[in-house]
Amino acid sequence: MAVPRRSEVVRVDPTEPDDAVLRHAGQVLRDGGLVAFPTETVYGLGAHARDRAALRAVFEGKGRPSTDPLIVHVPSAEAARGVVTEWSPVAERLAAAFWPGPLTMVLPRAEDVPAEVAAGRPTVAVRVPAHPVALGLLSAAGVPVAAPSANRFGRVSPTTARHVVDELDGVYDLLLDGGPTTLGVESTVVDLTGDLPEMLRPGGVTLEDLVAELGEVRHVGRAVTAPEQAASAPGGLLRHYSPSTPLVLVEGGRRLPDQLEHALRERGVDAVVLALPTDAERAARSLYAALREADAAAVALLLAPAFEPAGLGRAVNDRLYRAAHGRVVLDAMPATLDRLVAIAST
Ligand code: TXA
Ligand code: MG
Repeated sequence: MAVPRRSEVVRVDPTEPDDAVLRHAGQVLRDGGLVAFPTETVYGLGAHARDRAALRAVFEGKGRPSTDPLIVHVPSAEAARGVVTEWSPVAERLAAAFWPGPLTMVLPRAEDVPAEVAAGRPTVAVRVPAHPVALGLLSAAGVPVAAPSANRFGRVSPTTARHVVDELDGVYDLLLDGGPTTLGVESTVVDLTGDLPEMLRPGGVTLEDLVAELGEVRHVGRAVTAPEQAASAPGGLLRHYSPSTPLVLVEGGRRLPDQLEHALRERGVDAVVLALPTDAERAARSLYAALREADAAAVALLLAPAFEPAGLGRAVNDRLYRAAHGRVVLDAMPATLDRLVAIAST
């Protein structure tokens, strides 16, 4: 087990972060320390991407298997070219359209980026985040920064500094507290190394945005199911983003979650509809905080309403589907209620 780190927390203005703080944080990264910082999506746990010991500390600190690759964060498209061997016209086009922003591109990995970052793959995932604190930190660091979401592996991603403290106190050296993140779900991951661009994870940049820019984009409808398949589809692990309370995704219309809650309560089951705004954008922003709060309330079963599969609704559904471990409900028939009663008692 690793030695606990300093875990200093420093508040920063989210729009005009203090230069001295950013320079100090950049130095901590260059020295091999771990810095947790806000991005527009979720908080990340950053390490110098070329420092193998720092990378190991990230995997260990998160309890993340070494088979799950990390995203490398850089302050500009120009810097992104430094971590890849091939910068295609498609990459150029996506960078111009969506960077800085919630888009991660998978490209052929440069030789001086350690294999550990990419879990041994010949590729590397790279992104230029839009948050002023993240951008300022990356510029000040002057080195590429590998940063997964700052949560323990398989748990709900952090959207506030408090969440990071709750998850990883003792793991990071420094946490920059820039307040709540604005987007609330992770970046969209697009693989550009195949014959056709493929969306591996829906996120802040929507499929519609990508299609408008590129024309055809391949995408899988839903996460893979079996853990043993996850290695061949990184990020496809079904139990990702999980609260500890059992959760099911309810797809049969906006009224169904309430009907189910009522019917289950009549059967003595403490079921609760996950409180989310009906607008997908606002739902994305509050999703992870809502999951944490619901977990703290210690109910028997969470009923999560599915969103229209368009725009940010795809990303929200994807996270809920994984939080549900793939359990989807479509009606309030007696057999369905029986199934939910069984799930609630697990
Ligand atoms: O919004 C985000 O992307 C946040 C912030 C901190 O930037 N980061 C984040 O990192 O969500 P993480 O580690 O939680 O998720 C990274 C995702 C995983 O699904 C991983 O499998 C995928 O990116 N990924 C990383 N490198 C890859 C590669 N070389 N090929 C395919 N997928 C890759
Ligand atoms: Mg994550």
